[in-house]
Amino acid sequence: MAEMEVKERTGQINPEKDFHLDVPPGRTQYHVKGMDNVDWGMKDRLSRIFSPKSGNTLMLAFDHGYISGASTGLERLDILIPQLAEDIDVFMATRGALRSCVPPMFNKAVALRCTAGSTVLSDDVTSEVIGVDIEDAIRMNASCMAVQTFMGTSDEKSSIENLVKTIDAGNRYGIPTLGVVAVGKQMARNPQFFSLASRVIAELGAQMVKCYYCEDFEKVTAGCPVPIVIAGGKKMPIPDALSMAYHAICEGAHGVDMGRNIFQAENPKAMAKAVAKIVHEGYTDKMAYEFYQDTAK
Ligand code: R5P
Repeated sequence: MAEMEVKERTGQINPEKDFHLDVPPGRTQYHVKGMDNVDWGMKDRLSRIFSPKSGNTLMLAFDHGYISGASTGLERLDILIPQLAEDIDVFMATRGALRSCVPPMFNKAVALRCTAGSTVLSDDVTSEVIGVDIEDAIRMNASCMAVQTFMGTSDEKSSIENLVKTIDAGNRYGIPTLGVVAVGKQMARNPQFFSLASRVIAELGAQMVKCYYCEDFEKVTAGCPVPIVIAGGKKMPIPDALSMAYHAICEGAHGVDMGRNIFQAENPKAMAKAVAKIVHEGYTDKMAYEFYQDTAK
């Protein structure tokens, strides 16, 4: 069935699908979507990621170095991260960056980058392996482990193998897995793809999904039984980045995992605070932009 959908390749979600957008997801006791039936330790970790008050999370992605080296804005993590730490909920980073540059006193949740295998020096960056042992994830006190999937590429199977092995290891110790929908040069970036990929990741057992924002996003989130956090993507004008975050939250995302649009902003601290207002305090994009301008003065 999924094969048939993929072959259509229209880019749009089939209008005959019914996501019952007028019916909210079933109410649960626990504040993280789809996670009522996981164990206490996993819930404790998920509660460090997703605020019990807002239900949402602001992750700062600064794991770019695992593939790109010293990305613009991330040259000195030891200087940047202390400036932003108080405004974000989760460090999404490599173990190397955390151990060498980030003081553990911040006591933040950690989304630990757990894949490796390619750099931007190779033409194809879709070939990865699991890059962190579960024992080291435990040692790092990881709140979740992040694994990319490259669906629709020749590395689809091996990246899904990385995902399910990580999920199995995480389940043994109560550590959730963040399944990341990766996009590449040759890969689709449309609602049909994101809907399929996020659902596949959830069905394979990941406790949360990172996915790009797209048209029809409310259908993507409705069809995914676990929380979706949106990826930031390339640097864009600040009002556009805030607008994307706002619409994603309005359309069912439970957070934002943003890198370049925060740390490459003209004022990264004001940007982190502004995005947090949208994620946790119900600010609109316009309110958040005004807040950004005031804070950045
Ligand atoms: C993608 O999964 C990786 O984590 C990226 O390194 C990171 O998320 C990119 O963040 P951004 O696109 O917001 O700069």
